[in-house]
Amino acid sequence: MSTLDSILKETRLFPPSDEFRHRATIPGMDAYNALCEQADDHYLSYWGDIARELISWKKPFSRVLDDSNAPFFKWFDDGVLNVSYNCLDRHLAQNANKIAIIFEADDGAVTRVTYAELHRRVCQFANGLKALGIKKGERVVIYMPMSIEAVVAMQACARIGAIHSVVFGGFSAKSVQERIQDAGAVAVITANEGMRGGKAVALKAVIDEAISLGGCESVRQVVVYQRSNNGATVWADGRDIWWHKLTEGQAEQCEPEWMNAEDPLFILYTSGSTGKPKGIQHSSAGYLLGAMNSFRWVFDAKPNDVFWCTADVGWITGHSYVCYGPLGMAATQVIFEGVPTYPDAHRFWQMIEKHKVSIFYTAPTAIRSLIKLGADFPQQHDLSSLRLLGTVGEPINPEAWIWYHEAVGGGRCPIVDTWWQTETGSVMIAPLPGAVATKPGSCTLPLPGIIADIVDESGAPVEAGKGGMLVIKKPFPSLVRTIWGDPERFKKTYFPEEFNGQYYLAGDSAHRDEHGYVWIMGRIDDVLNVSGHRLGTMEIESALVANPLVAEAAVVGKPHEIKGEAVVAFVVLKGARPTGEDAKKMVEQLKNWVAHEIGKIAQPDDIRFGDNLPKTRSGKIMRRLLRAIARGEAITQDTSTLENPAILQQLQEPA
Ligand code: WTA
Repeated sequence: MSTLDSILKETRLFPPSDEFRHRATIPGMDAYNALCEQADDHYLSYWGDIARELISWKKPFSRVLDDSNAPFFKWFDDGVLNVSYNCLDRHLAQNANKIAIIFEADDGAVTRVTYAELHRRVCQFANGLKALGIKKGERVVIYMPMSIEAVVAMQACARIGAIHSVVFGGFSAKSVQERIQDAGAVAVITANEGMRGGKAVALKAVIDEAISLGGCESVRQVVVYQRSNNGATVWADGRDIWWHKLTEGQAEQCEPEWMNAEDPLFILYTSGSTGKPKGIQHSSAGYLLGAMNSFRWVFDAKPNDVFWCTADVGWITGHSYVCYGPLGMAATQVIFEGVPTYPDAHRFWQMIEKHKVSIFYTAPTAIRSLIKLGADFPQQHDLSSLRLLGTVGEPINPEAWIWYHEAVGGGRCPIVDTWWQTETGSVMIAPLPGAVATKPGSCTLPLPGIIADIVDESGAPVEAGKGGMLVIKKPFPSLVRTIWGDPERFKKTYFPEEFNGQYYLAGDSAHRDEHGYVWIMGRIDDVLNVSGHRLGTMEIESALVANPLVAEAAVVGKPHEIKGEAVVAFVVLKGARPTGEDAKKMVEQLKNWVAHEIGKIAQPDDIRFGDNLPKTRSGKIMRRLLRAIARGEAITQDTSTLENPAILQQLQEPA
């Protein structure tokens, strides 16, 4: 049975236990409904109250929302704060000795830092950045392994008002270069290398290559954290500086730069429908509010919890639920450098047992791969510390959900399936675990204050059971502010004319069931979701045609048991169509090429060669046919408008 079929048949309902409900921050549906009503009736004061409750302001705001220049909304805009102050300094009175981070390295070595220690490290590093002349509003690219230092780097930027742009350590030099250039970064913070699965991953060398590709003249400094002692690091004198040298002798206090609520906190690049990644720009106050509020409600986080989000800080999940949400709420969290399968597939369960993790947040793709490698492994560990589980990034198939619930959660832990996006900054649709009964495969109901709906092309809500476009009808604090350097694209992409520029268009299709529960069906644009990572088909196509041997390429997705979706590329070479061994060699060559252009995560799983691509008489590539071919389905669609029907046969042959 396909995932979609089983989701459509799913009717099981899992209410929270009485015990969980009684202790929860939002205890039961009445509490949830009361919050929703409050938000409906007094939208602005609802958000204003939360902003006053959660954030420590240097100067309070006088206005909640300024929508005079919609869709460029401003929240709390005359308020003054510092995000790093909110994540660190204000906890020192009560929680100086509380563990902030339990870091487990790839090799199992564990380091713990308290809030006082983290504060000290952030201040020293922030002073170091200031000594380099980095100023408020300047951009800093962070290309780091999962580490305490990655969090320190982000927090230090926030402290001095520099705008960070974290680039996932798996992206290629070319991708880093594009991001440095687009952001106009003045500095890069990296490590000599990272360790994943027992192997060293070059990082500093990638930065050197990125800068050597040109167009990165804005970069004045590269700060290098020495993660390991493997070999020599190539050095550019005058540009490169070791992290430990930079922080040596720096003062342990650093007065935060006081920022306006709307000053950008960070830019994070993500894939869209066109070839060029978009720089999603988030604000200081509204973003922090979203990260903190969702952390306390969706994860029901309590002072004694040990939280573990397995996402890398290179993605939005790592921003909101590693760096900002947990620290804003003074939580204790685990940060893990490595991979779930090293040294073997016991790793996650061992770590939960060892660190007594109580709230665990991961991706469906990780769950599916761990089922495959050892469905009975969790039972071999004491996972009784767990009380809540979460998933993010893609729809979870009910089979994986049930396994997660039973084998990992012992049947007692609610599962929060959290729907959100880089653009929304924080969780939008998810069960509040003490209130909303869950259904495997559904992200259930919007959080109070999130006015989500599913509409047709005219903007009218669709009836239950019918698919439509997921929109959010009112602006909310943690929403993306603009696309860095491209406000027009922001407007067109997210607040399209069809809806009079009123609704935020998420780019996902969804339907609601008879209980009003939301079921996400997939993207409506040319974005693929591979292992929970967003990849633009156009981005991969551009990478392929940049190869001198390639004339044309079309990329589509096909369902994949573990990854959710897999990348399939149809390629026309400038020379003859390769067959046999030549084709196999060419496949390897092009896979390596894509890894080099974008990163390994974007490598096609399957490459097919044709003399041409199926096109209409007007020259448009017929992607729906390619999708059917990729899935190995019989072609039942109308092919009468096809210029070259014979090509279909050829493309069905695997290389
Ligand atoms: C998908 C990740 C179904 C969706 C936080 C969205 C999901 C895209 C879920 C955003 C979920 C995320 N159920 N689909 N619980 N969570 N998605 O920007 O297609 O990396 O638009 O943010 O992932 O991916 P992004």
